[in-house]
Amino acid sequence: MKPPAQPWSVASENAGASRPPYAAVIFDLDGVLVDTAEYHYLAWKRIADEIGVPFDRRKNERLRGVPRGRSLEILIEDMPRPPADLETLAERKNRWYVEMIGRLTPADLLPGAERLLLALKRGKIRMAVGSSSKNARAVLERVGLANAFDAIVDGYGFERAKPAPDIFLNAAQLLDATPAQCVVVEDASAGIQAAKAAGMFAVGVARDEPLPGADLLVRSVAEIPLSLWGLPEEDHSSHRERP
Ligand code: BG6
Ligand code: MG
Repeated sequence: MKPPAQPWSVASENAGASRPPYAAVIFDLDGVLVDTAEYHYLAWKRIADEIGVPFDRRKNERLRGVPRGRSLEILIEDMPRPPADLETLAERKNRWYVEMIGRLTPADLLPGAERLLLALKRGKIRMAVGSSSKNARAVLERVGLANAFDAIVDGYGFERAKPAPDIFLNAAQLLDATPAQCVVVEDASAGIQAAKAAGMFAVGVARDEPLPGADLLVRSVAEIPLSLWGLPEEDHSSHRERP
């Protein structure tokens, strides 16, 4: 695997994209702020084992950022005889997932997330969540971020999911920001494509797999430079309040 580029390295093909400082940020949720991507995987794995279809973390990468129904289609794509009641399977997967996120606490925020959110809030940067998940609000509630954002756009009410730009364009509108003023932070290939289709600056959080198309690659949100928004890097160690 190719290691992620150094933070703040802008991909050459995007060199003509808009420039910092940006005025707003739109965070994907699962796998960016909270490690719920693992719970999605575990719940799908349980379904896969039950119906006898091979499924591993590599295949799971294709499910990142993808809505529930489409995820199930990908899961069963190689089955000679796909199960009849897909809706029931998707519902069952969701029940397990909901059970798992019921145990989330603020301690489940990914490293650097709280610090970054606090610094952006202090810098008066407009902040949104743009997630494909219908459980996004429940997750935000559990980790104590229900009131941390100026706008939340979740998996309800969108005909065109990521990689279409709709979720991010809607979030930008709610933030009263133009696409060129927005940074998107994403861990999924579908999300990076959506951000670029929306005309936004895309930060890719790439832990294990490469994430093509991102303007800037980091290993975690802790590496995202505040200079993107024209803010000074600060020593956050003394700040304890929640965003
Ligand atoms: C995305 C996840 O955020 O939400 C996907 O990355 C998931 O893995 C999708 O399938 C839909 O989530 P939910 O909670 O509506 O099933
Ligand atoms: Mg994600």
